[in-house]
Amino acid sequence: MAPTKSNSPISMIDPSQLLRPEPVFSDKPIDAFRDYTIDDSDPIKERVRRTYYLMHTNVTVDLVKQKREKWLKFNHFKSTIKDALIKLNELVDESDPDTDLPNIVHAFQTAERIRQDHPDDDWFHLTGLIHDLGKVMAFYGEPQWCVVGDTFPVGCQWADSIVYGPESFKDNPDTYNPKYNTKYGIYQPHCGLDKLLMSWSHDEYLYQFLLHNKSKIPESGRYMIRYHSFYPWHSGGDYRHLTNDKDEEILKLVLEFNKYDLYTKCENVPDIEALWPYYEGLIEKYIPGVCEW
Ligand SMILES: [Fe+2]
Ligand SMILES: [Fe+2]
Repeated sequence: MAPTKSNSPISMIDPSQLLRPEPVFSDKPIDAFRDYTIDDSDPIKERVRRTYYLMHTNVTVDLVKQKREKWLKFNHFKSTIKDALIKLNELVDESDPDTDLPNIVHAFQTAERIRQDHPDDDWFHLTGLIHDLGKVMAFYGEPQWCVVGDTFPVGCQWADSIVYGPESFKDNPDTYNPKYNTKYGIYQPHCGLDKLLMSWSHDEYLYQFLLHNKSKIPESGRYMIRYHSFYPWHSGGDYRHLTNDKDEEILKLVLEFNKYDLYTKCENVPDIEALWPYYEGLIEKYIPGVCEW
């Protein structure tokens, strides 16, 4: 479908699609999303594979602790939410097999589709708009493998459902460390998601950023942001031996969010200039002013 100019440009979807059991928001079939097959003749597939192999080789318990120490001081720069979003115009996520568009387009695609289904939950619209904002770390010295992509806990065995599988961690020193390479590793059974040391990424950074800057986005939105990239858990079904009852509630939120994050990645580009006034109002309500990053 060709995009047309309107205030809600992603609304040009065949209405019957909204009644189907799967959240199909574009012409692309569901099973064509998140295709991580290796094909070195395809430049996008090769870019994605390279990003993940670098991540899986380099992310260790020690590295995550260093990155938390570095970023959770929030002393890197100051910016409004809007200016940080505009920065994402210059970022194409190298781990993403589904879109080659700048991240700001993905932000508006996600937010607008949420707005269509949940018109009264304005905090949810804003959650969609800002969920990937933590990727601004890529402009401040972090390589993309440390910013984008799926997340997983460090300090325990790598789950089978992590993209490219446990084999992709063969050059990671933690793979051979007996403190870290068992089913539970450094964790207790059913300790809960918030006790897990997650691979460093834009999810945890933005979650902590919202707390640090005293955002009024409700807890539901903050959890959607914190775990939206934890595919091995929310979609792969792994790590259930580490989660608890509260996490089951978080799972429902994350899955509701996820369909908008993933299936809106299509060629329909929203009219961002026309949409700004609405979203500026939400920024003013939930996280106004100049923030510390
Ligand atoms: Fe993300
Ligand atoms: Fe996203």
